[in-house]
Amino acid sequence: MIDQSTVDRIFEASQIIDVVQDYIPLKRRGVNYLGNCPFHNEKTPSFTVSPAKNIFKCFGCGKGGNPVNFVMEYEKISYYEALKVLAKRYHIEIVEAQQSEEALQQKSDRESMLIVSDFARKLFIDNILTHNEGRTIGLSYFKERGFREDTIKKFELGYCLEERDNFTQKAQKQGYKLEYLVKTGLTIHSEGHSPFDRFSGRVMFPIHDLTGKVIAFGGRVMKTDKKTAKYLNSPESDIYHKSNVLYGIFQAKKAIVQFDKCYLVEGYTDVISMHQAGIENVVASSGTSLTAEQIRLMKRFTNNITILYDGDPAGIKASLRGIDLILEEGMNVRVILLPTPEDPDSFARSHSTSELTEYLQNNETDFIHFKTSLLLDEVQNDPIKRAQAISEIVKSISIVPDAITRSLFLRECSKILEVEENVLYAEVLKLRQSSNEKKFNRESPSFIPQPVDNKVATPIEINDLEVVEREIVRLMLIYGQHPLFELTNEDNIVTRELTVEEYLVQEIQRDELEFTNPAYRQIFEAFQHFVNNAQLVDNKYFINHPEVLISKTTVDLISQKYELSKMYTKKEVFLETEDMKLKTTVPELTLTYKTKRIKLMIKQVQVKLLEAQKNNETEELLNLQQQLMLLFSLYGEAAKGLGNRVIV
Ligand code: CTP
Ligand code: MN
Repeated sequence: MIDQSTVDRIFEASQIIDVVQDYIPLKRRGVNYLGNCPFHNEKTPSFTVSPAKNIFKCFGCGKGGNPVNFVMEYEKISYYEALKVLAKRYHIEIVEAQQSEEALQQKSDRESMLIVSDFARKLFIDNILTHNEGRTIGLSYFKERGFREDTIKKFELGYCLEERDNFTQKAQKQGYKLEYLVKTGLTIHSEGHSPFDRFSGRVMFPIHDLTGKVIAFGGRVMKTDKKTAKYLNSPESDIYHKSNVLYGIFQAKKAIVQFDKCYLVEGYTDVISMHQAGIENVVASSGTSLTAEQIRLMKRFTNNITILYDGDPAGIKASLRGIDLILEEGMNVRVILLPTPEDPDSFARSHSTSELTEYLQNNETDFIHFKTSLLLDEVQNDPIKRAQAISEIVKSISIVPDAITRSLFLRECSKILEVEENVLYAEVLKLRQSSNEKKFNRESPSFIPQPVDNKVATPIEINDLEVVEREIVRLMLIYGQHPLFELTNEDNIVTRELTVEEYLVQEIQRDELEFTNPAYRQIFEAFQHFVNNAQLVDNKYFINHPEVLISKTTVDLISQKYELSKMYTKKEVFLETEDMKLKTTVPELTLTYKTKRIKLMIKQVQVKLLEAQKNNETEELLNLQQQLMLLFSLYGEAAKGLGNRVIV
């Protein structure tokens, strides 16, 4: 933890121009600087840096943000790590937040555990190099598997001698405390027995963290004995949370960035054999089924994941599960299935590097094609089964967080399945609504329906709402403190001016409306908080927000490309600029937003009404009719542009 005042100092000190120029050259262009974008390939520079706003923005690929975002993106490191890089650059001493006694103790426990693990790593390697049993059993096993010496070295493979407590004894003799041997799981100590080695007689696969430190092990038995598990892993510990770890990430990260893609396989041997065949951008979720944390770990290096699993039913099932998890994190997912009974390990060993590369290139399918061919193959001409298959595919699309990506997928899907796009849209909305309902099961009953009912709301309408929300937030960010109306007292004397942000907060708050888009909602709610506490809103709060979604959305919204030529025509005819029109656009926008929401509510109530009629629920029917009448009258008022208090 870096304490907040240090974070503030880092942000204060960091100049976007210096920071970017540490990595790429820039040229001055008017008030801004221009360069070739480091995040995508381009020939004409569209990467713009604004010293005044202290942000960067690429108009080619859309990436943008503050200095910390730039370092995160360029170096593929975390927020915390980027702060450290900048602190170093500006000679700012990092003051770690005060740590509790307990936290300090935990920290030193972790350090001791890492030291013990490193000792184990070295001992296990030493065994296969210099110890007779290690060489004849461990090393020869790896060689029989076809692992070369450089591969064995790269993955730091080793062997734990069969003697019951060889490791435990040696470690203790070196002065390592039994407590840490047990905490890392390398030693098992149960009552009434002397401590013994967990991994006796196994070949050892150390598991590294991102920086290359060993945090756990996997061990494979040598004997083909059905009673003992083939693979045994270190237990969860303070240094090893298996759901956060990917096997091979340390060895793969450079290649993942280089190829902007990560292959995901099942096990240790798959990773190692692929490396040996020359494909290094590969990791495994070894020892657990794929988790969201593991996907986010890959996301630090690339947005593209290709699942490479066995083509057997278990492999297919795992792929399907993986697809949805990856989509949920907003990443691109592709699938390659291997011909049964091959796994990546056996396939890589039985084929040449060029054959492997060719297979990977030719058999990669995007998830829609993968799911479509998989599911539609089975159904043939059965319409019910076909419908089920379609809704399975749509289910995956509905998980994608970004609305634009979703609609692109839907278009693709509609083409392949020959189903109308609108029908698919409706299905996606239904699914998204029910999952949102689960997420936002709010306590206080609200008259404002959230989220919008799928049966009647078309996608166009949802997008519509988001577009208006985007515009509201954009105006708040750019013109928030511009005066909008004069406020007068009873004597008609102007007391002060109401600002754009105050007006919008008041208006939206009055009807208890909650924005449908999560990023805009969060930004709006922050405005609400500031305005309600009479604090001035500083855009820096959003630009430098620790949540990347917020800082990037903000930069996106405020860094619109203005071309002077559009404001001043050649004949020097002066055109009105945006800020001159706020007095009309802001209230209009508010009204538009409210009208759209009422329209959706009317449709929702109408659907409920039909249902109530069908089920003969008289009381409910009456209630709904009243609601409907109220809504209609509100709508009428709003539509005429009269009522400003649209929703009671
Ligand atoms: N695996 C595992 N736990 C198991 C079985 C397998 O974690 N109980 C993982 C391992 O990481 C292994 C991969 O799945 O690398 C492939 O499994 P498998 O082919 O069964 O392991 P191999 O060691 O290749 O065994 P074999 O020689 O019998 O193919
Ligand atoms: Mn195998």
